[in-house]
Amino acid sequence: MASITLDRIDKRYPNGYVAARGLSLPIADGELLVLVGPSGSGKSTVLRMIAGLERPTSGTIVIGERDVTHLPPQERDIAMVFQSYALYPHMTVRENMAFGLRLRKQPDETVARRVAEVAEALGLGPLLERKPAQLSGGQRQRVALGRAIVREPKAFLFDEPLSNLDAQLRVETRAELARLHRRLSATMVYVTHDQVEAMTLGTRVAVLKDGMLQQVAPPMELYRRPQNQFVASFIGSPSMNFVRGTIERDNGRARFVADGFTLAVMDSLATRAGPVVLGVRPHDIALDGAHEGGPRGVVSLVEPLGSEQIVYVTTPGGHDLVAMVTSDFAPRVDEPVALRIAPSAVHFFDPQSGARILAAGATY
Ligand SMILES: Nc1ncnc2c1ncn2[C@@H]1O[C@H](COP(=O)(O)OP(=O)(O)O)[C@@H](O)[C@H]1O
Ligand SMILES: [Mg+2]
Repeated sequence: MASITLDRIDKRYPNGYVAARGLSLPIADGELLVLVGPSGSGKSTVLRMIAGLERPTSGTIVIGERDVTHLPPQERDIAMVFQSYALYPHMTVRENMAFGLRLRKQPDETVARRVAEVAEALGLGPLLERKPAQLSGGQRQRVALGRAIVREPKAFLFDEPLSNLDAQLRVETRAELARLHRRLSATMVYVTHDQVEAMTLGTRVAVLKDGMLQQVAPPMELYRRPQNQFVASFIGSPSMNFVRGTIERDNGRARFVADGFTLAVMDSLATRAGPVVLGVRPHDIALDGAHEGGPRGVVSLVEPLGSEQIVYVTTPGGHDLVAMVTSDFAPRVDEPVALRIAPSAVHFFDPQSGARILAAGATY
């Protein structure tokens, strides 16, 4: 296996569209890096440049020790696993897995040994004589992966490989892929638009928007310390709430004030007095019926999910907030509730740039 380094990559398509800008991203040997972003953010473009199917307009791509920027795909030794797994329907699983090695004129014993090893590792042994039509979606996915693994590539690239599967199978195959990654210690770059998939799979997650990297970090770091408002809203479900307002200083204390919404915040924020965007995750809002101080609102909708419920609350100033609370408390539509938000749980962003605002003395 090998590391992959993207260094200041720009990609302008012939029609002038810029799909990647100044993208620098080192991917360690054996890492599972997830590239996540909304549709059209440039994820497939980046993957295709690593595979050699697209040339960057500028910048370099290094795989292992070798600069591959100008090498064709077949000289890069990379396996790309697409969403449509394209197995040969008339061949058995065994023949499908052996195909690439036979094409490379490997001796029969080598082919038989590699296929047996990989089939064993992927639990495909009992399926070797079946044709693709006799397999489930998840099994086909595994065969496609096996076919790539027997070639012993330097890295695996996945472009939304699970999006054809139904919800339950997607969760199973995702877990299987994570286990497989641990077993193989293979370098993998995995593209998805699904933030849950990104969070659950990635050792690190790179968030892409408009061809630009927004943040690269382990999943929980993205969740706890999003570096800008885009990452904050993209990662986490339901999405983070945002309220525009002002940090006011009052005798060394600090509070956040918006129309009909006042909240005590960390006093270290007094140095950042001025307009801000407050962010608070639905899980960081607790609700109760008491009314002493703090922000209040009226319940507009309750969505029970079982152990938890999503409660939509409208504040007097017309801000709509989403709270995710346990099912112990039973708020009713049109009833007033108090919102409890811990000062340590809120995030602040610059209203112009969207960048995370750091409290004085904070280490992040
Ligand atoms: N061959 C092409 N020519 C021009 N524009 C393209 C081409 N391929 C992709 N794009 C554009 O580049 C942007 C990024 O595309 P893509 O990498 O496929 O995004 P993603 O995989 O994140 O959905 C999109 O706006 C897309 O329309
Ligand atoms: Mg894509």
